[in-house]
Amino acid sequence: MTELTINGLKVTVEIPDGIPLLWVLRDYLHLTGTKYGCGSGFCGSCTVHVDGEPQRSCIYSASNAIGREITTIEGIGQTPMGEKVQKAWTEQNVHQCGYCQSGQIMSAVALLNDNPNPSDDAIDEAMSDNLCRCGVYNRIRNAIHSVGESSQ
Ligand code: FES
Ligand code: FES
Repeated sequence: MTELTINGLKVTVEIPDGIPLLWVLRDYLHLTGTKYGCGSGFCGSCTVHVDGEPQRSCIYSASNAIGREITTIEGIGQTPMGEKVQKAWTEQNVHQCGYCQSGQIMSAVALLNDNPNPSDDAIDEAMSDNLCRCGVYNRIRNAIHSVGESSQ
């Protein structure tokens, strides 16, 4: 059995060696807010935080997360920055189909925790590996700026 800490709760699961964290979250724990896109670390839709750092859960072995704090889209709203970012996303009507948005939010929270008022260049650099087929990049940028401005 493997013990993981997810969104502040300890959970115990029986999982195969080497299974990516994404599938533990989705298939074993039914935390389906974290999305499968490319499965290869390129699109960002599966982004979660491990000890506060964004990680692509499709290529991150669940065993590497033992003893670390995992945060998913289901739990990020319970953090101060996560709450602000989710509110900004709603106010700016960021999502279109929504598929990429949990990953976008997780990357945005990590960025804003490191840099509370990022420039356009800093946003583009931090968010460039989170792809959006609907192309709502301007709305993502506006929402991140609105959190930065509200923090000043
Ligand atoms: S599904 Fe993980 S980066 Fe695309
Ligand atoms: S909102 Fe549709 S893929 Fe990003």
